[in-house]
This record gives sequence, C-alpha cells and structure tokens, in this order.
Amino acid sequence: MTAFDDVLTYVEEELGFATSHYDSSYLDRRVSSRMRRTDVTEHEEYLDLLRDDVGERERLLDALSVNVTSFFRNPDVWKELRGVLDALAEDGSMKLWSAACSDGREPYSMAMLALDQGLSPRDFEVIATDIDEEVLEVAREGVYHSTRTTDIGEQLGPIDDYERFVEQEEDRFVVADQVRDRVEFEQHDLINDAPKQDVDLVSCRNLFIYINAEHKLPMLRTITRSLRIGGYLVIGKTETLPEELKAEYQAVDKRLRIYKKCE
Ligand SMILES: C[S@@+](CC[C@H](N)C(=O)[O-])C[C@H]1O[C@@H](n2cnc3c(N)ncnc32)[C@H](O)[C@@H]1O
Repeated sequence: MTAFDDVLTYVEEELGFATSHYDSSYLDRRVSSRMRRTDVTEHEEYLDLLRDDVGERERLLDALSVNVTSFFRNPDVWKELRGVLDALAEDGSMKLWSAACSDGREPYSMAMLALDQGLSPRDFEVIATDIDEEVLEVAREGVYHSTRTTDIGEQLGPIDDYERFVEQEEDRFVVADQVRDRVEFEQHDLINDAPKQDVDLVSCRNLFIYINAEHKLPMLRTITRSLRIGGYLVIGKTETLPEELKAEYQAVDKRLRIYKKCE
C-alpha cells in the first residue's frame, strides 16, 4: 500500500466516499489539487491534515464529487432525441429516466423537450436519480442562477421561447410547475440498487468517464435490465459501451452514442 492508497482508504472508510469505484488518475488529480492548495507535498502529511481538520475533509469531498452538468448538454444529442421521442410517442405513454441526474438540469431538459415536442403531460414521466442526496435536494428546488461562467439562458437555447418552461428574474431561473410536476427525484446507486422497470429511454451521461472499468459494467447492466426491448439508451459523447454489452444494442447514432436495446 502506498501513502496515496492510505488516503483513499481513509476517504472511503471514514468519509463514506466510494473511492474504489473511481478511476485512479481522476482521484490522483483531485487529491493532488487539494494538496497544492494546502501547501502539502507528501500524502502522509495530507492524511494527517484530513484527520485533524474537518474543513479540509469537507473541501476534499467537494472536490471529489463530480456534479458538473447543464441544461441540454451537447445540444446535437438533444436535437436527435426529438426524433426518438416522436418514435416512442407512437407506442403510447412513456417512461424516461435520467440516471446520474446531478442537480436536475438533465431531467428537466428531458421534460421540456417532451413538452416542446407536443407530448401531453399525461403521456410521459421522467424518473431522475442520483447517488448524491445533496444534489438531489438542489434538483428538487429547480432554481438555477447564471454566474460569470454559467449562462443558463444560453443553455436553454435549444428550446424556442424557453420562458414557457422557466420563470426568469434577472439571473435567477425557476423551473415552472408544469415541468417540475413531470419529474420524480429519487436517490439510487447504479452499482448496488435494483434496476428500474420498463424504461423507454434512459440517459446516463458523463458518469462513466470518472468510473473505473470494473464498476462501469455493473452500472450499465443495471441500466440494460431497466430498459424494455426496443427502449433507447444515451451515454456521454466521449463514453463507450463495454464489449460485454455490445450485442444487446444496435446503434441509432454512433457519434451521438444513442443506442436501441435489441430483442
Ligand atoms: C458529471 S454528473 C453527470 C450529470 C448529467 N448526467 C450530465 O451529463 O450532465 C455525474 C453524476 O453521477 C453521480 N454518481 C456517481 N456515482 C454514482 C452511482 N454509483 N450511482 C448513481 N449516480 C452516481 C454523481 O453524484 C454526479 O451527480
């Protein structure tokens, strides 16, 4: 065991963040960044600091949690999803799932897209899950702010007249009830919790890039079991399906990482 491993074990056992699920170079970058900021050069010393300083424990956990998201992240993917929603609408009401939904902008984007495609609120529901209860609290509020680096109005660009779905007061954007009412948030761990049932479209994007290979497969198995035959899967644009699951899917759009579950 190296001193770096000791830090990871401490974080997993004492602070409850499952470092063993994450890619080690990702963990190394995050821990090294905290070490630079606290002027510590050795991992042993950093472990002592973590043991002594509750503030540093919180700052490290903040740095490790990967909640980066936006409304309509990768707009080209969402454009293609309009066609997927139209195809699903032919079969009646639909169950959409934003798995690893972070602060809610992805599932709210799904609900807005469905309404914008002319679906009636009765015809779809969005399940939104994440392992992190804190981001889910933010998500349930449905309130977002533009900042120097985040332009929420720009993120909502793929929807014409987005004011139908979001009330804006200067830099503050509040998701309207007709959108919020379609989304149900729930804590769910893609590795350890049971699959969902009969999902028509699941989006699980930008999580596997941080996860080690060993845990990626169980996550995608949970997702595959949750989808009905003929249901759709979207993963992140830089992510890939593991070899073991390729036979379960046919590509709808390879570049955009949209797949359909085969018979
Ligand atoms: C980078 S965000 C992706 C948000 C959104 N899908 C997107 O593409 O913008 C990754 C999310 O995965 C969640 N996560 C990490 N491990 C998880 C697990 N085992 N089960 C469910 N969610 C997990 C994190 O809490 C985080 O909110």
